[in-house]
Amino acid sequence: MSINFSNDFDEDEIITSTSSIAEDKSEGSLRPRTLSEYIGQEKAKDSLYVFINAAKMRNEPLDHVLLHGPPGLGKTTLASVIANEMGVNMRITSGPAIEKPGDLVAMLTNLNEGDILFVDEIHRLNRAYEEILYPAMEDYAIDIIIGKGPSANSIHLDLPKFTLIGATTRSGQLTAPLRDRFGVTLRLELYTKEELKKIVLRSADILGIGIEDSGASEIASRSRGTPRIANRMLKRVRDYAQVKADGVITSRVADEALSLLEVDKLGLDSLDRRMLRAIIEYYNGGPVGLETLAATINEEAVTLEDVYEPYLLQSGFIIRTPRGRCVTRNAYEHLGLKYSGGNSDQTVLEL
Ligand code: ADE
Repeated sequence: MSINFSNDFDEDEIITSTSSIAEDKSEGSLRPRTLSEYIGQEKAKDSLYVFINAAKMRNEPLDHVLLHGPPGLGKTTLASVIANEMGVNMRITSGPAIEKPGDLVAMLTNLNEGDILFVDEIHRLNRAYEEILYPAMEDYAIDIIIGKGPSANSIHLDLPKFTLIGATTRSGQLTAPLRDRFGVTLRLELYTKEELKKIVLRSADILGIGIEDSGASEIASRSRGTPRIANRMLKRVRDYAQVKADGVITSRVADEALSLLEVDKLGLDSLDRRMLRAIIEYYNGGPVGLETLAATINEEAVTLEDVYEPYLLQSGFIIRTPRGRCVTRNAYEHLGLKYSGGNSDQTVLEL
């Protein structure tokens, strides 16, 4: 199997960032290659195991797969596991990287029988180009219009049978016709602490890093449900252990290193805390609309919604109400602030 990375990711160099940064790209060796090596996402793996084996028995390509969920949970990794299990090649692109229809046509016509085309951030694909995908996904064919006006000609091109794997953090933004053409839709969930601990221990083993069980637990509980963050923290804590301790990651070493990086005991970083504080200080605990909150702390609403909210919701620091976001009693307590009793929206929803 060969994997071709043809797009660049955003640079965002904070340790708790869920976007892929330059350092993560060298993590090929940490990526699991088979479903049995892949830790967590049990529901998705169970379904994939059945679909992959059925497709292989019938000697057919796998049906098109849509992977959705918060960033950093291993959508690209899972796609490469699927390619490896199917024994096919995978080409990688992303919605925003496809700047003109020709880019998409070139990707499709260069595929070989059975190949996987992985389109990251598929919700950002230009709507006008989506229509190229409909016949490609349904009939393995595309119609290309050459020329303009009355002299325009349409050429019908057959494509090899392929599998499209789309990944998105916002499946709600996909158009219904595109969403309906995926035979398999899998939602990836934030990882549990136990799963993250296994991932940290596995990565430490591959990288030859000395780590105690308690050190792995400390990193796991501070990596906000996200393997990408856990692996990045592991490397930073290793640096700290080499310089300040005897090279072995203990819970004390991990605690000191991560505190230095301003990641608190529960994995919240300065922006998480700023967001919670803003709801408390300016909006009396909420409710406050996402756009208003984003303007208050000078961040983009999509960043708050896609990157910050999933973990804050899962850890019970905020709740969503029809009138906006509210912080919970946990958030006050975590920030060391006096709980003011919240307001009626919050009280009703917390009951
Ligand atoms: N590294 C990153 N994500 C992983 C996963 N889900 N399983 C094993 N190793 C990983």
